[in-house]
Amino acid sequence: MGPSNVDRIEAPVTVKAYMMCAFAAFAGILFGYDSGYISGVLGMAFFKREFGHPVPTSIDETGFLYSTSNKSLIVSILSAGTFFGALFAGALADWIGRRVTIIVGCIIFSVGVILQVASTSIGLLVPGRLIAGIGVGFVSAINILYMSEVAPRKVRGAIVSGYQFAITIGIMLASVVSNATQHRNDASSYRIAMGIQFVWAFILGVGLFLLPESPRYFVKKGKVDAATDALARVRGQPRDSAYIQDELAEILANYEYEREIGEVGWVGLLSGGWSPAGNFRKVVLGALLQMMQQWTGVNFIFYYSTTYFQQIGLKNAFLISMITTIVNVCSTPISFYTIERFGRRTLLIYGAIGMLVCEFIVAIVGTADPNGHSAQGALIAFVCIYIFFFASTWGPGAWVVIGEIFPLPIRSKGVAVSTASNWFWNCIIGIITPYMVDKDQGNLGSKVFFIWGALCTACVIFAYFMVPETKGLTLEQVDKMLEETTPRTSAKWRPHETYATAMEKHSEAATVEHVEPKSAGV
Ligand code: BGC
Repeated sequence: MGPSNVDRIEAPVTVKAYMMCAFAAFAGILFGYDSGYISGVLGMAFFKREFGHPVPTSIDETGFLYSTSNKSLIVSILSAGTFFGALFAGALADWIGRRVTIIVGCIIFSVGVILQVASTSIGLLVPGRLIAGIGVGFVSAINILYMSEVAPRKVRGAIVSGYQFAITIGIMLASVVSNATQHRNDASSYRIAMGIQFVWAFILGVGLFLLPESPRYFVKKGKVDAATDALARVRGQPRDSAYIQDELAEILANYEYEREIGEVGWVGLLSGGWSPAGNFRKVVLGALLQMMQQWTGVNFIFYYSTTYFQQIGLKNAFLISMITTIVNVCSTPISFYTIERFGRRTLLIYGAIGMLVCEFIVAIVGTADPNGHSAQGALIAFVCIYIFFFASTWGPGAWVVIGEIFPLPIRSKGVAVSTASNWFWNCIIGIITPYMVDKDQGNLGSKVFFIWGALCTACVIFAYFMVPETKGLTLEQVDKMLEETTPRTSAKWRPHETYATAMEKHSEAATVEHVEPKSAGV
């Protein structure tokens, strides 16, 4: 018997269920801290002496500095590792489970951290960051998958936004810690900042060890009994409750349906082509969405704002950078409400409009009056407003949407490819930005914001034409909505039939067809 009421597929959200899902968001701290700590560490005098080479004090007051290529290698090797880690993790999560893949990610990450802490030269630091990056790739791709699969639909967006919130806290903690240890005159300056990463991996690994596996993974593996147990635990309901039975029937029916129409495997990502519900279209949407999130230019601020602020003559560059990380943290929770109230699509469209306006203002003001006192004040204010728009819209929005658009047979791989795209562009932007901005290179200075503004305009167009509204639907309903609407009409779509009832009708019809020829013959 399948559920017939399309609104009643899920149990009411209990506090325990909510807490369980919210815990998984903790992974964001690991992600944020890990990508955030390096900018502070690179600025430490002891680290420069240990990992750099002698230069005249007119170039760097410590008398030591890294070559541009070494600096770029140290920063970007992490994103390179993360890119491959995310891709590989997609296949692994279907094989050994979502939860176990994240735990394995924590272990790999810890190995990378040991190498980093032990390093006294680039020879060990770079492999350490590469290996840690692979671990972060596992965690960042599969955590989104896990959270989207276990979270109740009414709070799914808010829970995944909680992950982004944790990322922002991680970035802020990293800047606070490296600021606190920067003046130590021994290896503890960078070892403390690096070593703290263990704490996040430990808490996440142990916590996930205690949480249940995703019921959707068990369904995929054909273990219906284990799926029922897991679902009962994440919903805080008894196994035989009608809610659990209905939701399970829906997940099973959807999986059957998906399996009938498409193959799985990596090649399965291409099936259906560009048709509205085609797998390929969804994969392109996920990968582009994450690319666009990087194109907003946000990591220009989080990776290079200190040096940019110095370059345009601001005295408190370090402090202002730290303020941007705090604005980032404080603005993210707004999305917990708005993402469920106004929807993903609306947030992405208006968020990008807000960002592009700020970016063009920064570009114009910074170009027209580069050293003026009030111009600089305006510039700082608009950079902060820009971060506000990012943190309350695209920051969480991109992660929420990639957790929701993929059907179960390709979900883990689809999320993995999208996450890998985020890291790929993260890496590219990390490598090329200094060459565009630095005085001895492209020397764009504030003009670089014309580029970010233009790219953000592309984000508005992209969100308007390609991003569907997924708010308030179960992951199975999202599938149906994608089949029956276009992104621009998606917000009006309402569920009208569950997969379980559709499959029932389908099998009844099949039985009748099967019986009729015989009776005709009698
Ligand atoms: C992005 C990161 C970025 C962070 C800033 C995340 O959603 O993927 O690249 O550094 O937000 O808060």
